[in-house]
Amino acid sequence: MCTVNAHAKINLYLHVTGKRPNGYHELDSLVTFADIYDEIKIEQADQFSLTINGEFAATLNTDNNLITKAAQKLAQALGKDLSIAMTLNKSIPVEAGLGGGSADAAATIRGLLQFWNIDADDITNLDEILMTLGADVPVCFAQQPVRMTGIGEILTPAPHIPETHCVLVFPGVSSSTPQVFAHYKGPFGKPVPLPEKWQDQDDFLNFIKSQHNDLYPPARERMPIIDEALNALQYQTGCTLTRMLGSGSTCIGFFETEDQACRAADEIYSTHSNWWVKNTQLLKSRKF
Ligand code: C5P
Repeated sequence: MCTVNAHAKINLYLHVTGKRPNGYHELDSLVTFADIYDEIKIEQADQFSLTINGEFAATLNTDNNLITKAAQKLAQALGKDLSIAMTLNKSIPVEAGLGGGSADAAATIRGLLQFWNIDADDITNLDEILMTLGADVPVCFAQQPVRMTGIGEILTPAPHIPETHCVLVFPGVSSSTPQVFAHYKGPFGKPVPLPEKWQDQDDFLNFIKSQHNDLYPPARERMPIIDEALNALQYQTGCTLTRMLGSGSTCIGFFETEDQACRAADEIYSTHSNWWVKNTQLLKSRKF
């Protein structure tokens, strides 16, 4: 048996730098991960099965899940028999801008390689397999702070991220990534230079403050509740910065201390009990 964790993806900034003839957008994004994850269990079985449990299980379909596609693609590439039972414990909200589906697909590949005792470096077309599963799957496979360019396939290590406490708020409205991208009409910027290192949390947050998420305007136009989530975060004691994540609708608030993040999460949840609210930390440099 083997268990792998699929952590929620956090786009600290997301700039759209171009559009390819196939409709995909070129990006420049600093990505890390939050200490919130889906858990995937892999066990030997007579035939393939996928069982989904957990807080967000009801929002997913076992028939066309990206986990099944990932498992099938890898098994096919390696000539392996897919006699396994997989169980997903779904804790990351679905279509929420946290890359949950991509993280699950990436963790499936990571888990199966571990289960079959195969080294990722020995698979020549692994990058291609990851990319065919989705543009965010390579970054989720890396699951460490990186800068992502191209349409998601070019990953370069990011500087160490200082200890950062934050609160994630998903206000319950799912966002269609293709639709949000389709409503982005430019401008197309240039990739920003990253510093060699950030001295401390202030230095890091000042840098993030000077960047933005280009998908925020088209997303908030379709989902005004995003501004409610941002406001709810912004007015909490100790909140230094707020941003929408990915293609929405989850928003993040950064806090000076863990205590303030904890109190802010309690306070927001007390007035919005139908929202998903979590205080968490960001991955700094090592893998989870
Ligand atoms: O690759 P994935 O299926 O995750 O992407 C979902 C959709 O998001 C794509 O069909 C495309 O419309 C949009 N997208 C994009 N540019 C990217 C990533 C995604 O336009 N770099």
